[in-house]
Amino acid sequence: MDAGELRRNGTARHLSWIAWGIISGCSLSTMAKPDSNTDESKVPSYELPAVLETLDGTKIDTAADWEAIRRPEILELFRANMYGRKPAEARLPKVDRVGILEQATEALGGQVRRMQFRIHFDSSAARPYVDVLVYLPKEAQSPVPAFLGYNFHGNQTVRDDKDILLPDTWVPSRGTGVINNRPTDASRGSRSSRWEVESICDRGFALVTAYCGDIDPDTDDGFKNGVHALLAPDADTGGPESDGDNWASIATWAWGLSTIRECLAEIPEIDETCVVAFGHSRLGKTALWAGAIDQGFAGVISNNSGCGGAALSRREFGERVEAINRNFPHWFCNRFKEFNGRESELPIDQHMLAALIAPRPLYIASASEDLWADPRGEFLSLKGALPVYQLYDQSLTDRGLEFVEPGESVGQGHLRYHLRPGKHDVTDFDWQRYINFARMNVQAKE
Ligand code: GCU
Repeated sequence: MDAGELRRNGTARHLSWIAWGIISGCSLSTMAKPDSNTDESKVPSYELPAVLETLDGTKIDTAADWEAIRRPEILELFRANMYGRKPAEARLPKVDRVGILEQATEALGGQVRRMQFRIHFDSSAARPYVDVLVYLPKEAQSPVPAFLGYNFHGNQTVRDDKDILLPDTWVPSRGTGVINNRPTDASRGSRSSRWEVESICDRGFALVTAYCGDIDPDTDDGFKNGVHALLAPDADTGGPESDGDNWASIATWAWGLSTIRECLAEIPEIDETCVVAFGHSRLGKTALWAGAIDQGFAGVISNNSGCGGAALSRREFGERVEAINRNFPHWFCNRFKEFNGRESELPIDQHMLAALIAPRPLYIASASEDLWADPRGEFLSLKGALPVYQLYDQSLTDRGLEFVEPGESVGQGHLRYHLRPGKHDVTDFDWQRYINFARMNVQAKE
């Protein structure tokens, strides 16, 4: 994920790349990654698919036609070619019950309240289940809005809080304090810098998080576990998934995020109509797709989501379609692999994903040194979604549509972008801006 320069690629590629670096005498930080362009002058000229023109050439100029015609068409293109198709409702696991595991009126030194609940899918199956960690403002009298986002290695990584349950499923070995793919107490708080729990709660929001591997372990293992294992067989084929548009991990995580959002209706302290999907990196790709397919999300925050998330594929900058499909074959559907090295032939690009969030608040953020995620391409997606937001009288900026310098933000109303100075990460810099944005744009019921 993000162990310095090594975070980018799969193991085999890491090794060959390091070997190449040693032989050629380069240091890791100065090496260009093989077959990835980070030179703006080498970005090919490209034309983005028109967001407001249907496949048969009809121009869309009202919000009503966007919603009735073009939005469903774009959703279908993403399902068929990139994220894959959710199985039929009848095959999907159903939530059996939401069980409160634990609550504390004082947590983190008395600053916040904590709650943990478990989502059980099937009364006859012990697993999988999803453990959800909630931190709440201490003093809130009425239901509060929430940020909902997955973590990479378990809820216990969010804070060094001994009462947080450790996942008892597979976790990636690269996480701090993980031994034999099992998290140990040493992993508690290992990702705390990425979660501004106290600021979030101080400013009137809940933080809701779950481990993405509770829904689908993040490894290419043939979709045999997680919620895929609970899918009823296809009535027509008797088999599991269709071929080209199979329900891959990002789409499965997105479905899980919606499922958690729906379960928040059972938590009286949270206003489930005011839940913002948040995610970093692969989980930022997930937050975007979750917000696209589930209009119940009140807004979306994509932090450094890069290729397959906010970054335009046609720029062929940083991580490319072929690299992401090779290193993470389980993230996208099989048909997406047909676009390896052929980004210009995609019937969609990521500005159309951003447009699917309209008219809800959308924040896309990049980090200046995170060239692998193509900061400029992430900004251009937000800009490319603007025509759709304008149908709802939302505009991107009052200072022109130029890309910003590190440390700056651009946007107004429901669209916002910033370029944090530094590396691929989530920091206080990001969270302070996300909280301000949510305070302005996501209001809980009185
Ligand atoms: C890799 C991958 C990115 C992804 C990132 C992460 O770097 O290439 O697409 O966003 O991992 O999730 O941390």
